[in-house]
Amino acid sequence: MADRILLYGGARGTGALLAQRLVARGLFVRAVVRDAAGRAKPPQGLEVIAGDLTRPETLRGAATGMDQLVMMAGVTQRPASERVIKAVEYEGVRAALAAAHADGFRGRVLYMTALGVNRPSFMGWVLNRIKGNTLVWRRKAEEAIRASGFPYVIVRAGMLTDSPSGRRPAVLSTGDKPLSLGTRVSRGDVAELFVHLVESRRGGRTVLEVVEGPGHGGTDWGRALDQAGVI
Ligand SMILES: NC(=O)c1ccc[n+]([C@@H]2O[C@H](COP(=O)([O-])OP(=O)(O)OC[C@H]3O[C@@H](n4cnc5c(N)ncnc54)[C@H](OP(=O)(O)O)[C@@H]3O)[C@@H](O)[C@H]2O)c1
Repeated sequence: MADRILLYGGARGTGALLAQRLVARGLFVRAVVRDAAGRAKPPQGLEVIAGDLTRPETLRGAATGMDQLVMMAGVTQRPASERVIKAVEYEGVRAALAAAHADGFRGRVLYMTALGVNRPSFMGWVLNRIKGNTLVWRRKAEEAIRASGFPYVIVRAGMLTDSPSGRRPAVLSTGDKPLSLGTRVSRGDVAELFVHLVESRRGGRTVLEVVEGPGHGGTDWGRALDQAGVI
């Protein structure tokens, strides 16, 4: 039977692109959104439940019966204070993990985060100034995931663009790239990577970095994961 997916951050951006793709492939997706009844319109075909990462009591039960937990939520607005960043991007991750434990979740965690959590750079410094030290709190979120006991795949993406997927081949690596203007990747391609990770179930205690490479055309994700040494 196909895995059942719990998704945080599915109302917009990369999360919405991923949700559309998973639903189109016949997977069951439960999306936790802040505004379940209102303006944010997650893609059709999802089970939508209300939940806010900054309110841990709203997350209980979300992971019940789920096989994989995908975390793509983050603070969209810029500038953002460190108080908000910490509450969503660190304490929110910890709250989702704690709720999953409490729900008896036994599956795998897939986490979308940003390049540059371990490598200082000018762009990283700028981002931290604008978004309340986001890279610092995201590094701590990675530590929380590693310590959670769940198998995990952490995907650090370069600067996101809205180019359609499949325009440029993506490059996957397992090192620590610094964030720079040259490290870009489209939301669609990141969504495609997550579809492949979800369906193939490849990776566990895995950290991957994804940026677009030179040239034209789409990505053979199976081959890219082979080249990055992910089994
Ligand atoms: N921008 C970049 O260059 C970049 C690079 C690497 C990684 N990232 C990270 O990658 C992820 C996807 O980015 P994106 O730009 O495609 O997405 P996005 O448009 O910023 O969407 C973020 C999602 O997170 C949700 N969210 C925010 N606060 C929440 C909370 N307290 N509880 C539950 N959900 C909450 C939002 O829900 P609402 O609709 O309710 O606001 C939204 O659906 C984000 O985590 C982002 O920080 C971004």
